[in-house]
Order: sequence, then structure tokens, then C-alpha cells
Amino acid sequence: MATRINCSFHNSLWLLNPRQAANLRTARFHSRLRLPQSLLFSAPPRAANGALYCTNSSNGSATNDTFVLTTPLYYVNAPPHMGSAYTTIAADAIARFQRLLGKNVIFITGTDEHGEKIATAAGASGSSPREHCDVISQAYKSLWKDLDISYDKFIRTTDPKHEAIVKQFYSRVLAKGDIYRADYEGLYCVNCEEYKDEKDLLENKCCPMHLKPCVQRKEDNYFFALSKYQKPLEDILAQNPEFVQPSFRLNEVQSWIKGGLKDFSISRASVDWGIPVPNDEKQTIYVWFDALLGYISALSEVNEQPDLQLAVSSGWPASLHLIGKDILRFHAVYWPAMLMSAGLNLPKMVFGHGFLTKDGMKMGKSLGNTIEPNDLVQRFGSDAVRYFFLREVEFGSDGDYSEDRFINIVNAHLANTIGNLLNRTLGLLKKNCQSTLVADSAVAAEGFALKEKVESLVKSARSHYENLSLSSACEAILEIGNAGNSYIDERAPWSLFKQGGPASEAAAKDLVIVLEAMRIIAVALGPVSPCLCLRIYEQLGYSEDQFNALTWTDTKWGGLKQGQVMAQPKPVFARIEIQTGDESEDKVASKSSKKKLKEAA
Ligand code: MSP
Repeated sequence: MATRINCSFHNSLWLLNPRQAANLRTARFHSRLRLPQSLLFSAPPRAANGALYCTNSSNGSATNDTFVLTTPLYYVNAPPHMGSAYTTIAADAIARFQRLLGKNVIFITGTDEHGEKIATAAGASGSSPREHCDVISQAYKSLWKDLDISYDKFIRTTDPKHEAIVKQFYSRVLAKGDIYRADYEGLYCVNCEEYKDEKDLLENKCCPMHLKPCVQRKEDNYFFALSKYQKPLEDILAQNPEFVQPSFRLNEVQSWIKGGLKDFSISRASVDWGIPVPNDEKQTIYVWFDALLGYISALSEVNEQPDLQLAVSSGWPASLHLIGKDILRFHAVYWPAMLMSAGLNLPKMVFGHGFLTKDGMKMGKSLGNTIEPNDLVQRFGSDAVRYFFLREVEFGSDGDYSEDRFINIVNAHLANTIGNLLNRTLGLLKKNCQSTLVADSAVAAEGFALKEKVESLVKSARSHYENLSLSSACEAILEIGNAGNSYIDERAPWSLFKQGGPASEAAAKDLVIVLEAMRIIAVALGPVSPCLCLRIYEQLGYSEDQFNALTWTDTKWGGLKQGQVMAQPKPVFARIEIQTGDESEDKVASKSSKKKLKEAA
């Protein structure tokens, strides 16, 4: 049993305002402390580098050229599903876009491996927690490979360097006087790994997210003094409303804070599978107080000593935390308060996206209504999966999945608008111009409105990417394809070639114009469907190295030059055949489309 301590608000004079005092009276924890009477805070300063709450120059190192973005660290209670893949696909598109802008990107993902939920899952599968974590963590890594996720750092919370950094962080917060010990009794949702307020629960005390009853728990734990940070958090959000995105989620966060912040328990006496509390081996650190630190420990270099300050100096603060809306409170309330307590800068932005739903319900491991991302990738390829979810689900809102819609969208956009346009243009070029461009694209486009149209669409795609409006970015890029199709249909170069003479020369230039539009699509859509765009680029006569060296400035009209020789026309995206009939026929259809995709690749 853990020993009780009498005074745990180490060295701080607590001054609570009336609302906080009221919160503390209503909270059902029974501290053996004499609680202080009021709490005074001044607004937190803003650092010169734009980071929030910079109290000294050594608590962060990110420059304007660095872009650190994170996905959540995924629980390893079960293998990944499409909901987890969704955040990672979006993060990857953003990372690739930022690299095109020339930023030094550090893209962090990883797995959250401690806690009761994971230990229970390991037990159920007959493995030790460590073996279980190794297997599931590897399943995440291999899915990320199949989905072409270009992460830079993969942090596992069972990594000893992470554990060391969590302990250092805990000790800092303790030294600040923000950790104390108390009893707590409340309703706990194991799936959320969170105590819940009864008023937020459904009938039979069910968690609204997991639809499972919460369990009554009573524990003697260490608490983090979140309530102390109420005023600083209010000030930060008032001064930096862009901190929480999309903007409509800000109100929700502000109202949680306004409703009164309660201190939360950051240790568990009943959970062995976790990082021991420094100086009290009988308790382990609460999973969230552990996992959030993964965003910092991921920054530490492989061969360096695990050290919080060193890790911070390798890229903190993060530019962007991408998360689902269900974990917004942890990222927009708990995490900033924890960082302030430890004297560290706050991330610049937290973006809470919506849910992928199935029949209107959040797709998830606990409800068992998930879509298998491996299955989708095997059947349709990573470009199609990435494109569909980024194009079809407005980033920030919920989106329902349907296989018919999936097939219709990727066929219409990727196979028809983009793939067919490229293929038929290259076919005409081969037949009439020996696959060689007759003019520079800048010269060929003189006097044609298509160039201006493409330039304006590229400009809007860039600003949509910058604002994380990924669906609108896809839409703008697809519009370039639509404009190319309209252009070629109106100009009908196939009949101009038949006329010969100047008409034929004009037709040859038309092909250059359309292929330049395709080249720009390949650069601009690269963050979303990188392999497809590489295939397009290669069809235009470039090498993989040239594709990998692209920057956003390559979206400028004029890249294709006279004399450039195109590759042999080959479909870049195989149409997915929809077959009606029984299930076995469907399976045949899926296999045949996968085979075609492989052939196209
Ligand atoms: N381990 C915590 C995160 C700790 S971060 C320091 C966690 N893990 S999780 O595996 O349960 O969820 C990870 C992310 O997947 C969350 O952002 C969650 O919103 C997202 N999704 C899980 N199901 C989802 C959908 N059905 N749709 C979209 N995203 C969803 O929470």
C-alpha cells in the first residue's frame, strides 16, 4: 500500500479564486491538505519566436524553418483501424506539403503502450504486455509503410528514453509544487482511461463514446493541480484563438475551462503496467501524463542520453498536434497546463479533426465497427485510400464511409479526370510527335486562358493546404484536371492533326499545354497521393530523384521544355471495376483491381 503523506502541495502558496474554490468543494476528492484560499496569475508572456508561454530562452528551439507535427500516439490494445489511419494520412499529407515548402519537417508518430487497457488486452491475447506491445506496435509500423507514411520519428512509450524523460518531467512539475496526494472516488471509463463526471454519462452510467458502463473507483493517487492553470489557460486562448483549430472547437474548449477545471489524478495504485512514479514505486504514472510526453521524447536523438532539456532543444515546441476531437481536452487543456507547470513552451496549434463513422457511429475498436485499412490498401492501393479520405471527409468534420462512394470517387477523379487525360494526351503525342514536346510549355501557353486558370487554382490549393483544408486543396487540384479535359475536348487536337500544316502545329502545342497542367497536378497532389504522382511524373519523362527533389515552386507554369521526351504511355491509375452479384464475385473483382493497380505501378 502506498504511504499517505500529509502535505503535498510542495512549496507553493495557493491562492484560489471563488470559482475555483467552489469547484474544489464540489469535487469528490478528499485531500488531507489545507487548501489555499486564492490564486493569482498574470497573463503568460508570448515568446519572440511565436511560441506560447516562453519563460526562458532554453525551453524550445524550433525556428520558422522547422515544422514539427505529431499524430496521437495510438493505443496498442488492438491493431490499427481506419480511424487511426485517418489522422496519420492527414498528417503525412501536411508533412509532405511542408517539405515542398522547404521546411525542415519533423513528423512524429508512435504508440501509447502503458496502462490498464493495454495490460488487459495483452492478458486476453495470452501474451505478456511487452510481447503484446511489440506485436501491435509493429502492426502500426507496417501499416504506415503500406500507406506511404513518411514519418521521421516513431516513439513507443515503453522506450527507456521516453520513460526517463517522463520521470524528469514529473520531477519538474513536482518541484513546481503542482503535484499533491489525495483520495479520489469517481466513475472511471477504462477505454477513455479517464474519470468521468456523472452528468456527462448516458443511462446506466455508460460512457457516451464507448457505450460501456463506467466503473466506480476509489484510489489514493497523486494529483496534478490543473485548477491552478485556469486563468493562464483562459488568457492564452483569449490571446491566441488560433491555438485550437478548427475555430468552431475553440468555444468548446473555452467552455470546459470556464466551467471550472478540476485537478486530475496522474498516478494509479492499481496499475502495474506503467512508468513508476519517481520516489514511489507502488504507483505508476497515469497513461496520459506519460503519453503526452512522447511528443517531446520523440525529439531526442537515438544515441544521446535521454534528457528532457536536450529533447526540447531538438525541435520543441511542436507546430501542430493533429488529433481526433475526442482527445481535445487532453491536448488543449491538460497538456498546455502541464507544459506551463514544467516551464516549457506550448505547441503552436492543436487541430481536432472529426470522426470517420459507420452508419453514423464513430468507427472504433471498442464498438467493433471498424474498417480494416490493410484490406482497403490491399484491394485499392494506398493512393486511392489516401485520396478518398482526404478528399471526401472535410478535415475537421465527421465523414461516413461507403464502399460504393469510395469506388465512384476514385474512379471518377483519379482514373478518369487525371489518369485518362494523361494517357490519351501521351497517346496522341506518341502517334503524332514521337513522344517529344515541340515547344516550351511557357511559349505554347501564350494567349491561352488555361495557364492563368491553372495558376489561380494552384494558388488556392496552396492556401487550402496551409489552412489544413485538405479536401479543398484536393478539389482545387482536381479542377486543374477538369480544366485540362475541357481544354482538350474543345481544341480536339486529334482532328487538328488530321488537317496537317499550322493546325497540326497548334495541336502539338495543345498537347504540351495539357501535359504541363498534368505536371503541375503531379507536384501539387504529391502530398495526398505520392505514388500516383510519381508515376505521372515518370510518364512525363522525369526520374524518381527529380520527383523527390521537387519543391512547391515547381508548380509554377513553364517546367516542361521543348525536346523533353515522354515515356511510353501506360495507365497510372487502374479503374476499379464494380461488379454486381454475390460476395465471391465481389472478391474476384477486388482481386482483379488490385492486380491491375500493381500492373499500373
Ligand atoms: N493513446 C491516445 C492518444 C495519446 S496522444 C499522446 C489515444 N489513442 S487512440 O488509439 O484511442 O486514438 C488515437 C486517435 O485516433 C485519436 O485522435 C482518435 O480521435 C483517432 N480515432 C480513433 N477512431 C477514430 C475514428 N473513427 N475516426 C477518426 N479518428 C478516430 O486516444
